[in-house]
Amino acid sequence: MIKDLQQKILELKKQNDVCILAHSYTTADICEIADFTGDSYALSIRAKTAPQSTVVMCGVRFMAETVKMLAPEKKVVLANPQAGCPMAEQFSPAYIAQIKAAHPHYAVVAYVNTTAELKTLADVCVTSSSAVKICRALPEKNILFIPDINLGSYVKSQVPEKNFKMLEGGCPVHAKITRGDVLSAKKAHPAALFLVHPECRPEVVELADYVGSTSGIMDFAEKSSAREFIIGTENAIVCHLNYRCPDKRFYPLSKELLCRDMKIVSLHDVYAAVAGTGGEVIRMDESVRAKAVKSIERMIELGG
Ligand code: 13P
Ligand code: SF4
Repeated sequence: MIKDLQQKILELKKQNDVCILAHSYTTADICEIADFTGDSYALSIRAKTAPQSTVVMCGVRFMAETVKMLAPEKKVVLANPQAGCPMAEQFSPAYIAQIKAAHPHYAVVAYVNTTAELKTLADVCVTSSSAVKICRALPEKNILFIPDINLGSYVKSQVPEKNFKMLEGGCPVHAKITRGDVLSAKKAHPAALFLVHPECRPEVVELADYVGSTSGIMDFAEKSSAREFIIGTENAIVCHLNYRCPDKRFYPLSKELLCRDMKIVSLHDVYAAVAGTGGEVIRMDESVRAKAVKSIERMIELGG
């Protein structure tokens, strides 16, 4: 049944000149038929170079918006219009404009998990895999980091030569994890290395053997000579790793590490989006796009 639907999607994809991009947090049945699966940074790069005229984004809204910014000539479809990252909408553009005005000597660094309107206020965007490198490379000493205080705190610990101002934003899924969760997992699996996403709280991150993006975590586990790992990010990554490294053992840090927004994207949504009968075609005001894309292009320039 799943295989039949996947086959139909693959045929339609060719017929309708569609590229399917999937974030690694989406379910395995979607990742299997995607042209490309990756972290936010890799998806942005791929969006720029995909030869197809239509891109179907299996992920959350800000990811589809990023594709539209980088490839305005393409039709970009968000497979499930309900999939939005709650962190991306935590602060209104008016509020950020006010904070920015109060800090004129700060570079505004926006996590890519932000709306297109918020990106128009940013000097540069970052992803979890590029944030440290980009903040280090910026000429400004003062950085206003929005919206994730946990990613911002991690970057600050790695770039101590700069001044950071942060807001109290963050990912509700990763921020739920406590130090106690990590200590229990380490007690249950004493030989395992602990790999974590920087969206977790600083007291969780400081217990990690490796801190990185979703792709960074997978690459680290694959190359490591260790045999066991506790995975401190969305549990889809545990499934990918079980598939990629069948001879190693992966333990989810918590059953709570599930992103509802990524999980509501279904194979049926993908079918409808590829067929042209479902999903949401992303539309963006050209003045917003032209301004917002500058922060993404600068991210690619400094993060590459
Ligand atoms: P990555 O950049 O690691 O893919 O993270 C995106 C995200 O939303 C993590 O919660
Ligand atoms: Fe947003 Fe968190 Fe879901 Fe990532 S895991 S998409 S940051 S809510």
